[in-house]
Amino acid sequence: MKRERWGSKSIFILAAIGSAVGLGNAWRFPGQAYANGGGAFFIPYFVALLTAGLPLLIMELAIGKKYQSGAPTAFRKMGKKKGFEWIGWWPLATSFVIVSYYAIIMAWTFNYLWHSLSMAWSSGSEDFFYGEVLQLTESPGVLGGFNVPILIGLVLTWIFVWYCIRNGVQSVGKIVKWTVPVPIALLVILGIRALTLPGAMEGINYYLSPNWSKLLDINVWAAAYGQIFFSLSVLFGIMIAYSSFLPEDADVPANGIIIAFSNSIISFIAGFAVFGTLGFLQHSTGILIEDMTVAGPGLAFVTYPAAMAELPGGIWVQVIFSLTFFLMLLTLGIDSAFSIVEGIVTGLVDKFGWNKRKTVTAVCIAGLAGGLIFATNAGLYWLDIVDHWVNDYNLIIIGIVECIVVGWIYGANKLRDYFNSTSNVKFGKWWEIMIKYVTPLSLLVINVLYLVDNLKEAYDGYDMQYLIIGGWGVVLVTIIVGFIFTVLKGKEDTQAS
Ligand code: PHE
Repeated sequence: MKRERWGSKSIFILAAIGSAVGLGNAWRFPGQAYANGGGAFFIPYFVALLTAGLPLLIMELAIGKKYQSGAPTAFRKMGKKKGFEWIGWWPLATSFVIVSYYAIIMAWTFNYLWHSLSMAWSSGSEDFFYGEVLQLTESPGVLGGFNVPILIGLVLTWIFVWYCIRNGVQSVGKIVKWTVPVPIALLVILGIRALTLPGAMEGINYYLSPNWSKLLDINVWAAAYGQIFFSLSVLFGIMIAYSSFLPEDADVPANGIIIAFSNSIISFIAGFAVFGTLGFLQHSTGILIEDMTVAGPGLAFVTYPAAMAELPGGIWVQVIFSLTFFLMLLTLGIDSAFSIVEGIVTGLVDKFGWNKRKTVTAVCIAGLAGGLIFATNAGLYWLDIVDHWVNDYNLIIIGIVECIVVGWIYGANKLRDYFNSTSNVKFGKWWEIMIKYVTPLSLLVINVLYLVDNLKEAYDGYDMQYLIIGGWGVVLVTIIVGFIFTVLKGKEDTQAS
């Protein structure tokens, strides 16, 4: 059967940018920068981009294009042994977990679009989010019941995801022409509005003023690497899947550079929009930025909405800017969410030879089912725990393993020759040095130090039993699922026997 193809090379670039640019840029990056040294965070961030993010992105794009298959089959062919498939399945299992909670954040966003119409949080955004919208229980152990509006949002999200990818890269190509430019335009509008509000500059000062002492904190470095991987969508098998639909003559290094830098620039701009707005909130309420929730969901669903409720010009202006913000989140998130599903589906179809459309439907249903725990009244706690473990531990280990396989077993020089041969931008030997030494070593050192640091105290003060289930338990499950899919017989095994 002939492999699907992107409509054009620029559509591929758009789709890859769509995957990379997501909630990670709008609320993860500004929050991370703020918590990890403000302007000083840019140093570990760029170090992580150049020593790990970009080299890995180029590596994954090259692998996908070369083997014309999703991550598991590509690694199998690369290592010439079935066991190597596992290096493809583990990231897919990890990304399945991620999309199951990423979809929940989009479900909250759907709810907030609705609530924007009446500015329902204006009497207190914190109580509104935790109390009314999430109806959060007192601990992860108390699940409460299903949260019906969130559940409806979740179903809507999955229908939306299914719709975008039901016809594979053809429908993805049509959708990303909208879902990439629209949120960027909305972000720019929000940014301009933010910077012209009173107090904005104080917010920007917070964002950019460096706290150099943070550079000595290993957690800051781990956060920078984690942010880069999450944000670039590398180590999830997605970029491998996306580039597997590229023709032989595509230019991987040039595309990789465009994708990586667009992603960082958008994060940087999002920081202005967010911190300009926080500065305004400080100006109008007198609450200091340092006392606001600036990281994670609290930023998008508590602090930012609170600022919207303070905007001058009356309720309609507030409604319009709130809608703009949540619509931006939704359009930012959707192409990231479906890229994960596309990565998983490509892996399954390439190994088992299943019908693509049915596989899309099955994975969407599984993703919905897997996310149900996050749609309970204790959902936010579980999201927090799972997100922390899966992102910080799985990704860093997957990064190391991929580097060893490509750099040492397959040969970094061979892959470099391969991608340089169809590129105008030739990557020098430095790329090999990164993949063989710098990337895996920096990941190893950071991971070990980080682990030691984290084992000293319970994450976010949760009881150990929940961290074992939601943290280590989930990590273990992704590893095991990776093994199961590796040993299952695929279409090539049955043909061979
Ligand atoms: N890169 C996306 C973001 O920044 C998130 C994402 C993670 C997408 C993993 C795909 C895979 O929001």
